Amino acid sequence: MKFAVINDLHAHFDPGSKATGYLEANRRAEWMLGQFEKGGSMTDVDFVILAGDMIHGENLPTITTEMKAFKERLDRLVLPYYPVCGNHEIQQAEGNADYEQPYRDAFGDDRFDYVIPADPVEIVVLNNAGTFHVTKERREERYLALKRLLATRPKVPKILVCHIPLVCVRDHDVLEESFGFISYRCLDRELLDLVEAPDSPVKLVISGHLHLTGMTERKGIKHLSTAGTASFPHDYALLEITNDDIQIEVCNLPEYLHEPASNIHGPPRYPEGYTDEAHFSHQTYLCGAAAERSFKIPLK
Ligand SMILES: [Fe+2]
Ligand SMILES: [Fe+2]
Repeated sequence: MKFAVINDLHAHFDPGSKATGYLEANRRAEWMLGQFEKGGSMTDVDFVILAGDMIHGENLPTITTEMKAFKERLDRLVLPYYPVCGNHEIQQAEGNADYEQPYRDAFGDDRFDYVIPADPVEIVVLNNAGTFHVTKERREERYLALKRLLATRPKVPKILVCHIPLVCVRDHDVLEESFGFISYRCLDRELLDLVEAPDSPVKLVISGHLHLTGMTERKGIKHLSTAGTASFPHDYALLEITNDDIQIEVCNLPEYLHEPASNIHGPPRYPEGYTDEAHFSHQTYLCGAAAERSFKIPLK
């Protein structure tokens, strides 16, 4: 069982789109999706997960047209794909029916919180894209959804995929500043409590949103956030699952597609590139150390 996780494409394929977004994001999104089309280099994976911020969006009319254009593009993929709702799909308005409608129109009503079977594990997808901005009703619904999805086959190891990381993959205060938005981690603490419950079947949590690549371990559970394609350093992940373990490799887009000015944790957004205690260079802060980019999780 092999699959790819791609995230934060921030595509704006609608030709009439006025979204400015990330420098040349469409070029990298085109390349990434092209790997799963006929003649692409990754058509041997079993499926691909789109871990949020597929489109750039910005406001409801643009979200509507961009989502439609993106879905048309996805129809060219030669393998199954599974969407995850990101904040740019709904402009943070988790629980708002109007903002969630374009995503429902593209993918169906059952693609917010659901399970992807991937024997010998299960992949649980959860929409936490509106952290902090989430409606009271949706917050409760999402908690109950995660509780139910984790409890349905409690003995089967699980990978949770949610757009916004549940923990900080960099020093808390540094990450809060370098990311610059309140959603530098999921602020709805009850989700992490479920994931970290004593008999939790969760082995790995995969997210995006930060536009940097990092992995950290907490209470025996690994949390990976991949940079995605829109922002430098332009990463995606490949996972292979056997009966014995989960092997994770973070991969980089070809160098000719790189656009260092799309970095959101350093110049030109900030005068200096951020670093933290465990990441002395800005390059490592952005890309993660080798052990954050390639690691194994035993299943037995
Ligand atoms: Fe993003
Ligand atoms: Fe995001």
